[in-house]
Amino acid sequence: MSEETADIPAKLPSVFEQFSLAGRYALVTGASRGIGRVIALALADAGADLALVARSADRLEQVAEEVRARGRRAITVTADLVKMDELTRAVEQVYAAFGRVDVLVSNAGISPIWKRSTEVTEDEWDAIFATNVKANFFLCTNVAARMVDHGGGSIITLASVASVVGTPRMAVYGASKAAVAQLTRTFALEWARHHVRVNAIAPGYIETDMTSGVLEHPYFGNAIRQATPLGRPGKPEELAGIAVYLASDASSYATGQLFLVDGGIAAE
Ligand SMILES: NC(=O)c1ccc[n+]([C@@H]2O[C@H](COP(=O)([O-])OP(=O)(O)OC[C@H]3O[C@@H](n4cnc5c(N)ncnc54)[C@H](OP(=O)(O)O)[C@@H]3O)[C@@H](O)[C@H]2O)c1
Repeated sequence: MSEETADIPAKLPSVFEQFSLAGRYALVTGASRGIGRVIALALADAGADLALVARSADRLEQVAEEVRARGRRAITVTADLVKMDELTRAVEQVYAAFGRVDVLVSNAGISPIWKRSTEVTEDEWDAIFATNVKANFFLCTNVAARMVDHGGGSIITLASVASVVGTPRMAVYGASKAAVAQLTRTFALEWARHHVRVNAIAPGYIETDMTSGVLEHPYFGNAIRQATPLGRPGKPEELAGIAVYLASDASSYATGQLFLVDGGIAAE
């Protein structure tokens, strides 16, 4: 080998190897349906074993069967992440089963209201921030502390296009998702030297239980389609690729970023 080529590896990893999650353990919250379910199945397709967390035991078990049908291990943990004792117990159960978590997808979130800011109640504010911000914060910090002990990992949060553009009738949700975006950046800075990367997926309108009411509304559904450059809402499957990218070594130099997958809304 000449001096010029001495530092070049004999074979660079193929792009498909970079996306592999073989031998990795992933924890996905809100995995019982919608975006969380699709992300969990995508991570399983890429080779990861899965810990699935949400409140609905039956639905979680159905998703676990879908993971097992892909040849991967799956465990389910039923927990209401708003309750701190249940959040802590859920993380402990996952570590007791797997011993480590290489990928955390902090996906559980709610958007229960679609109303003018002047009509929002204190209880509605508290409920949205309890799930989207507080539970997300303590889940990420709880798992990150253990990831540090295991040499690193990848954390994926679910922000939103509403993190970065004002959205009428979604003030509280948008504020909660702006908080998620800021937590993501701050976590990334705090944990970079411990090899824990933290990035956010920021979807536009995706067809799930969360959005079915507004997307089926004759006026608002049409307004959303018109405000979306690609002219349609997205499908949860359209977030699978970015999730595997962020979970895997394919994104080894990305941290602290918001990845918009929004049909072009934020480009306007
Ligand atoms: N759909 C969109 O257009 C869109 C756009 C931008 C961002 N997002 C974000 O993407 C994430 C997933 O949204 P989605 O559309 O898939 O919503 P979804 O269909 O309503 O599913 C929400 C998931 O979160 C779980 N969950 C909610 N509260 C929980 C709690 N207290 N404890 C444990 N699990 C809880 C639910 O499970 P159980 O009910 O079984 O507990 C469910 O699995 C959310 O963070 C959302 O804000 C969605």
